[in-house]
Amino acid sequence: MAGGAAELKGPDLTKGVACASVEDGEVLLGHANGEAVVLVKRGESFFAIGATCTHYSGPLAEGLLVGDALHCPWHHAAFDVRTGEPVRAPALNNVPRWKTEVRGENIFVTSKDETPTSRTPPRDAPASMVIIGAGAAGQAAVEALRREGYAGKVTLIGREKEGPVDRPNLSKDYLAGNAPEEWIPLRGPEWYAENKVELVLNNPVTSIDAKGKSVSLADGKKLEFGALILATGADPVRLKLPGSELPHVHLLRTLTDSRSIIAAAKSAKRAVVIGSSFIGLEAAASLRTRGLEVHVVGMDAVPLQKVLGDALGTFVQKLHEEHGVVFHLGTGPKAITADSVELNNGQKLAADLVVMGVGVRPNVELAEKAGLACDNGVVVDEHLQTSAPGIFAAGDIARWPDPHTGKKVRIEHWVVAERQGQAAARNALGMKKRFDAVPFFWSQHYDVPINYIGVGAGWDAVEVSGNIADRNCIVSYRADGKIVACASIYRDKESLELEAAMERDDAKTVERIAKS
Ligand SMILES: Cc1cc2nc3c(=O)[nH]c(=O)nc-3n(C[C@H](O)[C@H](O)[C@H](O)COP(=O)(O)OP(=O)(O)OC[C@H]3O[C@@H](n4cnc5c(N)ncnc54)[C@H](O)[C@@H]3O)c2cc1C
Ligand code: FES
Repeated sequence: MAGGAAELKGPDLTKGVACASVEDGEVLLGHANGEAVVLVKRGESFFAIGATCTHYSGPLAEGLLVGDALHCPWHHAAFDVRTGEPVRAPALNNVPRWKTEVRGENIFVTSKDETPTSRTPPRDAPASMVIIGAGAAGQAAVEALRREGYAGKVTLIGREKEGPVDRPNLSKDYLAGNAPEEWIPLRGPEWYAENKVELVLNNPVTSIDAKGKSVSLADGKKLEFGALILATGADPVRLKLPGSELPHVHLLRTLTDSRSIIAAAKSAKRAVVIGSSFIGLEAAASLRTRGLEVHVVGMDAVPLQKVLGDALGTFVQKLHEEHGVVFHLGTGPKAITADSVELNNGQKLAADLVVMGVGVRPNVELAEKAGLACDNGVVVDEHLQTSAPGIFAAGDIARWPDPHTGKKVRIEHWVVAERQGQAAARNALGMKKRFDAVPFFWSQHYDVPINYIGVGAGWDAVEVSGNIADRNCIVSYRADGKIVACASIYRDKESLELEAAMERDDAKTVERIAKS
């Protein structure tokens, strides 16, 4: 999915274009000094920023302008057109900002504006911040702290040897052999040095003293904090059945996990993937790309049926079948041996590599031990604060009151984790901003990306607009008559419009777009 630099299209903006050619709220793609640039008009002012998303190089000109933010069509990052800053995950880096100049009837993009944007954090910000969990939410939190101008001590504590990684890539391009390992760390060591973030790795937190405001680490050290952000994520479930601990049975969560599947795939011939979930299916696709014979075992009659419904689930199944994946559905594994997986239906599948993708369990033990309220996750308020003042939670562990559904939800999506990390950081600084982003996730199956927006759990009706087989559709999920979520294939602009409308609680617009 990662693209190269956008090819140059549209006018040379350094030569100027008529001001009248850009309407208020419109985006014009052009270029300046050999770089793709978008020109945007907001009210009477013009702004120009780089046209290539800093996440995976998505084309920002095909995105959606919402207020001052230009949203990327691929995975819904957003950039402030005034500053070039990423205001929404998953992008972490700025796009370049360009100077503009109106001369007579024309608008010109002149040169890059390198002036740093600086902010002063709230005066009563805590003296130090500790973030537990060097993953999506943890990294996003430390980035937000520094972006907000926080100058206090920041410590990010991780359990693995590696710092934060681009986890979604571990089942996709990296596992398939299409992305080099250099792409996987979210940041290199120099970023932590430059931003004065102390990164403590391979040293899990063993306990939290919520009242005394300190954490203890596995090496015996104790760290005091002014505010704490818990972002311990989730661990994959290993089914308890004979043979599930054998060395050729792999889970997939960490870079180490993905590396060891890649190493095993070099000599393996036949893989069985247990679990027809997103991760199981992405792993199946990647192993097919590596030339292995792949069998997927799933309990549901249709893969992903609970999330995507029959029609889209069947399409995903067919897509994998076209790529040679063999499904064994409506059954589960009974036992694993060194060279086979025995199923409940009596079938025996030869396998020299097994990947288990059967869901995750949120890592809430630390929070529970510290006496924080937990109920299918760490319970947080609208500001992502736990039951203990000054302690926040974000990502896969957090169960928050979603203002759009009125329900308490816990969601396991990359973008949600990053956005919550950012929101928790800002609230830890005292900024008191309600977390109200509508959940978004994407999944990639071969050349077909699926974008999903909303909270669909508990849907009771599904409608398809467009044509799933043609890879051009919006599938909407209703609960009690209301559209609560939409999945789409190659309807990126509409997916962004749906996100914006859902965030405004504008059900009428959601209905209109979902039927388009
Ligand atoms: C292979 C794979 C592919 C995925 N693909 C997608 C996708 O395409 N789209 C999508 O939306 N989502 C995807 N997800 C889900 C997404 O990655 C997660 O929702 C997201 O990473 C959650 O972020 P987090 O910060 O809560 O947890 P994590 O990113 O898991 O980070 C938590 C970190 O905390 C550490 N930790 C745990 N306990 C301790 C402790 N006691 N002390 C210190 N550190 C601790 C863990 O080791 C971990 O590194 C994927 C997940 C996987 C595994
Ligand atoms: S490429 Fe823009 S959000 Fe991923």
